Amino acid sequence: MKRLLTWLGLALGLVVVVLLGFVAFLWFAPYPSYEPVVPAVTVASTPERVAHGRRLALSLCVACHENPETKTVSGKLMADMPPEFGTVYSKNITQHETQGIGGWTDGELLGLLRTGIHPRTGQFVPPWMPRFNRMADEDLESIIAWLRSDDPIVAATNQTNTAGSPTLLTKFLMRVVMSPTEMPSQRIDVPSTANMQEFGRYVANDRYSCFGCHSADFADQDEVRPENSAGFYGGGMTMPDLVGRAVYVPNLTAHATNGLGKWTEAEFVQAMSTGINRNGKPFRYPMARHNMLTPEEHAAIYAYLRSVPVLEGTPSSTPEYAESAEKGPKGLYFKHGCAGCHGATGMGAASLLKAHGKYPDDSVLADVIRNITRYNPEAWMPEYASVMSESDATQLALHVRTLCSKR
Ligand code: HEC
Ligand code: HEC
Ligand code: HEC
Repeated sequence: MKRLLTWLGLALGLVVVVLLGFVAFLWFAPYPSYEPVVPAVTVASTPERVAHGRRLALSLCVACHENPETKTVSGKLMADMPPEFGTVYSKNITQHETQGIGGWTDGELLGLLRTGIHPRTGQFVPPWMPRFNRMADEDLESIIAWLRSDDPIVAATNQTNTAGSPTLLTKFLMRVVMSPTEMPSQRIDVPSTANMQEFGRYVANDRYSCFGCHSADFADQDEVRPENSAGFYGGGMTMPDLVGRAVYVPNLTAHATNGLGKWTEAEFVQAMSTGINRNGKPFRYPMARHNMLTPEEHAAIYAYLRSVPVLEGTPSSTPEYAESAEKGPKGLYFKHGCAGCHGATGMGAASLLKAHGKYPDDSVLADVIRNITRYNPEAWMPEYASVMSESDATQLALHVRTLCSKR
């Protein structure tokens, strides 16, 4: 008996040592490496490609890579990253020869975007940098053509990349749970718009990955065949906004009460392009307004969503923001959902800290808040005019100035 206990003790000790060794390994080892994939492509630039690539990149790349100081895609701290994953910086993807991607070949860019393997180091790039493994070659080549274009936002910027500090959880996920995606075996084409439902399937799933947030669980998604993801388009996850309030992700299937069953196409397009929901509430973070989508893309997504198998999901939706404990302008800033995107300090997913200098006139700043599209036609901030009084906007402008002065 005594001997058995000794053996058990030793065995347990061994398990602990192995576990500790694994933890130490995770902590000290670099991200796992793979053989880089560098397809032989050279992207010919045409004005159409650049324009198409720019439109896609504004929805798919710029929010993460644009630095508000340089106004180029020179990389920044990802202020909206959940702390469980550590501190994360996006990278300089301007045309700078050494700091940016100016020295990369088209094949290196395509390989990274498809697989997630860094073409220079072979390291697996953390999943904060999305992979575009189902996107059509024409779309990705257009994005590459745009990265090479004379658009001021990609102009060479001499900004050094900052290394982040990933947590043990991140390192564990990168080594044990996640792996690079495979290069598609043949060219992928954009489906014809002759069949709106087919085109919509491509746009919603493969171009903008709407299912990624609107399905049951991030951990149970099929990157190759999105339709096999758990609770496909049935919603149900909750996501924290930038001040930690839980936002519920709704069901987008055609369920009559819990989904989009009663939405008309016009209501859908209106909500997507203004960021004001059918119920008159502005979209909450992280749901962006999608006014950079073409009318055709909007119509196609709507047609496709109506064809997705209906799921009941749960009827819950995020309760209205409670009247904040804060009164006055700061209270309004929380109540209208500004804090959800801009954070309590105004830094968040888009920075407010330049607004004071940019819009010295109070009535102009209030107008920016109600009619952002006038000042930035490509904005993904909701167009508040129809749901916010001018006097609230005036008070909010005051609060924005307070945030700027606290810096
Ligand atoms: C959700 C945020 C996010 C989006 C969206 C995003 N990126 Fe990134 N990207 C990152 C982060 C974070 C990194 C750095 C990852 C790391 O730590 O290595 C990165 C890295 C990169 C790199 C590697 C640069 C280098 O020097 O290692 C390239 C190239 C790149 N992104 C291009 C793009 C393009 C093109 C798009 C749009 C098609 C895009 N990214 C969309 C967050 C994002
Ligand atoms: C980053 C995660 C995320 C992505 C990506 C995303 N959504 Fe959403 N979506 C949300 C959240 C969260 C809400 C709830 C917002 C709220 O409560 O105001 C939402 C709300 C909506 C609504 C309102 C539905 C209702 O019943 O209130 C529609 C419509 C919608 N999304 C469509 C889309 C489409 C189409 C796409 C792809 C182009 C998309 N979403 C991509 C997170 C996301
Ligand atoms: C869904 C996210 C979101 C919400 C909610 C939101 N904003 Fe914004 N806001 C942005 C983004 C992103 C920008 C940068 C322009 C763009 O791309 O839309 C911006 C830009 C601005 C600007 C201009 C900054 C500049 O330097 O030009 C002001 C001012 C502003 N927001 C104030 C507000 C106020 C006040 C509220 C609440 C009523 C609010 N925002 C709600 C995302 C949001």
